[in-house]
Amino acid sequence: MKKILIATEKPFAKAAVDGIRQIIDGAGFEAVLLEKHTDKQQLLDAVADADALIVRSDKVTAEVVAAASNLKIVVRAGAGYDNVDLAACSAKGIVVMNTPGQNSNAVAELAIGMMIFMARNQFHPGTGREIKGKMLGIHAYGNVGRLVAKAAQGMGMSVCAFDAFVPASAMEADGVKAIGSVEELYSSCDYVSVHIPAVPETIKSLNYDLLSRLPKGATVVNTARKEVVDEEQLVQLLTDREDLKYATDVATGNQAELNEKFGLRVFATTKKMGAETAEANLNAGLAAANQIVDFLVNGNTRFQVNK
Ligand code: 3PG
Repeated sequence: MKKILIATEKPFAKAAVDGIRQIIDGAGFEAVLLEKHTDKQQLLDAVADADALIVRSDKVTAEVVAAASNLKIVVRAGAGYDNVDLAACSAKGIVVMNTPGQNSNAVAELAIGMMIFMARNQFHPGTGREIKGKMLGIHAYGNVGRLVAKAAQGMGMSVCAFDAFVPASAMEADGVKAIGSVEELYSSCDYVSVHIPAVPETIKSLNYDLLSRLPKGATVVNTARKEVVDEEQLVQLLTDREDLKYATDVATGNQAELNEKFGLRVFATTKKMGAETAEANLNAGLAAANQIVDFLVNGNTRFQVNK
């Protein structure tokens, strides 16, 4: 019987796990659950005879791939797959998929919440600001970016976006002003909501040069990946520009220093929580299970990311 390992250090909600099991059992496969594992060896042991693997942000390294002699497919239940060593998987003919869009609303709601949280001094006493009437820049107009844009418009914000891979017409159709360059985006927005993946071209791309273009009093909300920010240059920037704020899901490597130096001008979640809703767990978890069954039974590779 084919074995499908659900390896989630940050567990899915129970309803999602139950639903995943139902799909796997219904297809005649065996579901094996590894949750909250603290030791890499636990994953290496569990994956050894697995045919398929479902993960969240869990790292599927070359070592994990090497330990898996039966593995045919890895599904990252979520959007970003920077945690999966694609080259190692491809070299062994292992299909890698994500579940695009399934947790996007949860992340978009967090981005809006963090924007308001920062505008209101992290709910500390004192006069805050409203987001209505302000200019929001969406950095990458994908599934999450589009939802953030729509919600922000509903709250009276003006919205513009930069995305090198999305035609301007698609943004304009949503009432979003298309911006021609990332520099122009950061130069013209009171808030920037970051939705870029962590890939070699974007890692540390939010650097001093880019962020220093922000207008007075601006806030950057990063619900994408902490790796896209140059952490050392961020310290320098926030030191030089006392008007700027930075909120991130999840904490940077130097978050303690940021908190100590900049207080309420910075905020970080302690564990990545953009997709941590019951709804997102269910959507992404069930999609992952369905995609695995569809692949193992029918050979469907629709969501493959290492083609
Ligand atoms: C994603 O890329 O989908 C999000 O970062 C969610 O990550 P998580 O599954 O670890 O919450």
